[in-house]
Parts: sequence; structure tokens; C-alpha cells
Amino acid sequence: MNTTATGFQPAIMARRASEQAIGFLIQQGLENADCLSLAAGFVDLQTLPVQLVKDASAKLLADAACGKRILQYGTTAGPEELRSVFRDYLAELEDHSDKATNLPLGQIMLTTGSQQLLALASQAIFDEGDICLVAAPTYFVYLGVLDGVGANTIPVKTDSDGMCPEALDAMLQQLADDGQLHKVKMVYVVSYHDNPAGISLSNERRPRLMEVVKKWSRDHHIYILEDAAYRELQYDGPDMPSLWSFDDAASNGGREHVILALTFSKSFSPGVRVGMGVLPQELIKPVSDLKGNEDFGSTHLSQNIVAEVLKQGTYRTHVTGLLKSYQLKRDAMLAAAEEFFSDIDGVSWLRPNGGLYVWMSLPESIETGFKSALFERATSVDKVMYVPGELCYPSAWKERPKNQMRLSFGVLNPEDIRESMKRLAAAVKSVAAKQA
Ligand SMILES: Cc1ncc(COP(=O)(O)O)c(C=O)c1O
Repeated sequence: MNTTATGFQPAIMARRASEQAIGFLIQQGLENADCLSLAAGFVDLQTLPVQLVKDASAKLLADAACGKRILQYGTTAGPEELRSVFRDYLAELEDHSDKATNLPLGQIMLTTGSQQLLALASQAIFDEGDICLVAAPTYFVYLGVLDGVGANTIPVKTDSDGMCPEALDAMLQQLADDGQLHKVKMVYVVSYHDNPAGISLSNERRPRLMEVVKKWSRDHHIYILEDAAYRELQYDGPDMPSLWSFDDAASNGGREHVILALTFSKSFSPGVRVGMGVLPQELIKPVSDLKGNEDFGSTHLSQNIVAEVLKQGTYRTHVTGLLKSYQLKRDAMLAAAEEFFSDIDGVSWLRPNGGLYVWMSLPESIETGFKSALFERATSVDKVMYVPGELCYPSAWKERPKNQMRLSFGVLNPEDIRESMKRLAAAVKSVAAKQA
């Protein structure tokens, strides 16, 4: 998209946004609307909390004075009394640690989903040509945000335990040797059941990753953006403390490294779209200034609805029910993978303890991209769609694998999950047979 039909030349930010994966994916979704979709990253329709939102809204609006206050603008970071409720929520997640319980409210910002915090923090931190180190694969929409701010995105070796601290250390050493260390501003990690691969950073790696970042922050500050979007969607596996909990400013000359991004989109409702950020002290002003320019406060009504269900305890009950439903879907997808893919040579997949995705690798000869024979066959003959894995790596990275898929179990019911996996296996077998 360089020039439109009317001769309008969009500005650089818009031109960069036009080449992003999310746009291609939405387009493909529209073009293949007759397919069963393992691509959509949407949450489960059946468990969305209609009654809870109705009850909370009715309560909030029952009193006219309270209703009018809520239907007015809030404040840029969200009103203090609401942030205090969200701090209690954080304290609950963080096992009532002193760090969470006593967190200054000024460090909490209520945002429009966590996506807004990812964008604002990136605008506050990156100048053109600065470097962000990311897990490989990673959340592709954030790769677009990084492109938008002109950051240079470098992948770091990642396995089923998350980003490798040794690989991060080696990458930072290499960048230091190349005289590029001063440009490294951030490490981005989706720490729980990530999008796209369902991988969590292991408990053993969390403090080590923190140490590596501290070690290389000698002369300038390197942040960790901890994206904990799927923190609450955990079905089994060990409890995992946040990376944020290891960010001990007291033992680090008052310096904080972690920006924590949380959201109620996955655990409650993306339509309500409330996110919560925790910012290191020195980022409060720049991020607030940017948010002031953008919207001077996220939707006040939504923030009040979430605060209300948190206070009533109905949020917690809702999440408990949600986990049961997602666990059934996750198990349905894993069972279908076993049933339909285990007899195909060179196919493997990861078993996630939470989140919404199963990550599958095919033999190297079978590419999965939008222009691949597999995508064509799956969408036009077998009528099933997935997210090509290559979207989840920086596009400039020449070695990025092209034989992987993100399969989402969030939207479909267990029967349709099985049916779509059956169709996908048929597509893979057909392409494999043609290659043989
Ligand atoms: C890893 C990750 N981070 C952040 C988001 C943003 O979600 P929201 O803005 O609704 O909180 C998503 C949404 O899919 C995600 O997968």
C-alpha cells in the first residue's frame, strides 16, 4: 500500500502497518469464511460472561449518581479507587507478596486490553533502529508493533522451556562485540502459555533470564516486557511466579526492569477489553503522556465492570468454570493430533499446560505459508484454516522455519476441533503424497 486510488500517500506508520501479519490473517479469514477455523485467536463464545456483565452493569447503574460518574470520562491511568481494586487482584495472583500488596498505585495503568500497553511502552522506549530481542516464535501482532516503531527485532533461541538464558546472554555478548549493545532496549517474553506455541518460560529459567538482563544493563537500561496475557488460562502443570516477582529493585540500586502486561480479555471478555499494566517508575510519565495523547483514559464503564466482578468474587468463579471448558478443548485437540497425525512421518506438536494454542511442526519439505500447497489444499479442498507459523518470526529473519502451524482450540467445540484436525491431517497427507 504505497498510494491509494485517490493518489493519497499514507504516512510511514500506516505503510508499515499495511504489511503486517494480522492484516493478511484477517483477509484470509474473510476469504475462507466457509472453513472450520483453527486460525482465529478468539476466545470461547459459550463461556463469555453475559450474565455477569449484565448483573454488574445493573448494579453500577442502579444508583443514578453512581451511574453518571461511571458514564463520565475516567482518568488517563484509570481512577485511583479502581486501580486499588486491580492491585488487590495482582496481589492475589502474586501470592500476596509485599511487592504486589504495597505496589504504589502510580505504577498501575489501566489500558484498553494489554495490546495498548504493549504499543505505548514500545513507543516510549524505542527510537528508530533500536533493538528488541524476542523469543522465536513469538506473538506476531507485537512483531508488527515493533516494526511500527522502527525497532530492529532479533530472535533468540527458544525451546519448550521458553527463551534460553544462555542464548540470550550469547546474543547480548555478540551485540556488545559488534558495538550494538547500547541499542538493545528490551527483551519481550510471553511468559505463560504463549501465543503461538503454548510455551511457558520454565520456573528454573525465570530468575536466570532476569540475571542476564541485569548483567547487560550496566551502562544503560534494558527492559523486560513480560506479556502475561495467558497467565490465568492454566489447566495443569506447576505454579509459576511472574518474571516481575524476580525484579527486585531494592537489591538493584532502585532499578526496575520488568514492565508487566496483564489482561482480562482472555479470562473474562475481549469485548469489555480491560488491560492492566505495571510500569517501572521512570516509565510512568512517558507512557502516561503517550496515553494522554492517544485517548486520555480507557473506557471507564468497562473498568468499573471488571472492578465490580473482582470485588464481588464472581470473576474468580467465572475463571474456574472457564478453565474446565478450555481444558476439555485442549484435550480434544491433543487427542485428535494423536489420532490423525501420529502416523505421518516427521510431524510433532507441543502439549501446552494452558493458553489457547497447540504448535505443530511438519516435515521441513512441507511449507505452511499462505502461498504454500498445504494452505491452498487445506482451505480450498479440506475447508480448514490455521495460522502459518512463519508469521510468528521476524520477517527479516532468513532462517525462520516455514513448516509450522499455530492451531487454536479457543473457538471451536470439541467435536469441531476433532473434525478440523481430521481435515488438516488429510491436507497434510495429500501434500506429502504429492511430494513422495
Ligand atoms: C500474547 C498476547 N499478548 C497480548 C494480546 C492482546 O490482547 P488484549 O489487548 O485483548 O489484552 C494478545 C491477544 O491475542 C496475545 O495473544
